Amino acid sequence: MIQCPRGTRDFLPDEMEKRRFYENRLRHTAQTFGFREIETPIFEDAELFILRSGPNVLKELYAFKDKGDRDIALRPEMTAPAIRMFVNGMSNDPKPIKIFYFGQCFRYERPQSGRYREFFQFGAELIGSATPETDAEVICMAAAMIKELGLKDYKIHIGHIGVLRQAIADAGVPKERTAEVLQKLDKKLYDEARPLLEDMNVDSDTIDSIFTLTETVGGIEVLSKVPGEAGDYLRQVTSYMHAMGVDNFDIDLGVVRGLDYYTGMVFEAEAPALGAEKQICGGGSYTLSELFGGEKVFSTGFAIGFDRILLAIEKEGQVYEPKGIGAYVVPVSDDVRLKSAEIVAMLRSAGISSDIDIMGRKMAKAMKYASSVRAKYAVIVGAKELEEDSVTLRDMATGEQQLVRIGELVAKMQSASQ
Ligand code: HAM
Repeated sequence: MIQCPRGTRDFLPDEMEKRRFYENRLRHTAQTFGFREIETPIFEDAELFILRSGPNVLKELYAFKDKGDRDIALRPEMTAPAIRMFVNGMSNDPKPIKIFYFGQCFRYERPQSGRYREFFQFGAELIGSATPETDAEVICMAAAMIKELGLKDYKIHIGHIGVLRQAIADAGVPKERTAEVLQKLDKKLYDEARPLLEDMNVDSDTIDSIFTLTETVGGIEVLSKVPGEAGDYLRQVTSYMHAMGVDNFDIDLGVVRGLDYYTGMVFEAEAPALGAEKQICGGGSYTLSELFGGEKVFSTGFAIGFDRILLAIEKEGQVYEPKGIGAYVVPVSDDVRLKSAEIVAMLRSAGISSDIDIMGRKMAKAMKYASSVRAKYAVIVGAKELEEDSVTLRDMATGEQQLVRIGELVAKMQSASQ
């Protein structure tokens, strides 16, 4: 039997219905913040991701040559494609540009719970502005989305990668090796970061102070320990967040992010219920457009790991009940099949999701099937009742049955569902 490739999943109808439900709630939240949806290709020129994604992403890139010998990659994330799209077709639009997207990304990672090779991101980019208000707006939208999905236990960590980049540069780390160091610090691999920094002639006190910086965590009071202008900047970000009602965060200068393009504020959200793969959202401010042939434009964005956030709400006990269909029409005998087809068509054109028995099942089996598709009603069509232009309407939840004239069927169902 052929299975789907390692790290990928099939979504069966119940699961898919659930995913669409939550996905649409996220869409709705993004729209209430004034963001508009975009879509970009699932594969791109590999160069788009090689230019600035950093060593982590490169290792995990699904890259291949197409039949025209072009270097192609499946997208590992959607910020670079969104900015490419902006440079190609939106750079003259009035700023700021607020866009969001939902779709699958691909990373060749070792699959485990919450980590897949094909996974889905819901993300947003606010392009063309670099102010504390911009960053607050983006973090607040991420928070609103997490809240909209009903997740209770989560925490947002806000940092500033500029601080760490500056400390690393001041320590004399060559620019082209910064990503290597940040990659270790991102994973808190201090044992590996130390020899790496020593190799670049960084003395042990400076190494210690860089490590201490990444361990700076706490409430807004720790901002007084943040060197340079970043502390003041983050204080303004958090004031705007407070004004917008978002206080569920801490300051954490250890937020490094796995991707290489961030320049200023960075943030992550975690759901502890998920264990090892607990990061449900990540983002920050960056510039990418100049790499893709455009002018330098500041942007801030984030992406929610859609699969992970669904796992997290499930772990918290949230259950999605699939909706099922409105009606299941059951012809009692062959001579009423045509009339039954007419009835199901009438229900459908009235907007009631309806199905009809096409297997010629006996009544008991037909009812069982109606339950399995979670039909709200069964419409039982019998020759005798048809003589009076009527059918039997059965409420599948209570088992109650009543004779209803065909002309009144739609109104009856609609009034009952109000
Ligand atoms: P990222 O942190 O690499 O950021 O990914 C965003 C989220 O995608 C993660 O927080 C995680 O929940 C989810 N995710 C990542 N890898 C996997 C995986 N293998 N399986 C399941 N979920 C995964 C970005 O991609 C940036 N583009 C975010 C951004 C937008 N920054 C600015 N704008």
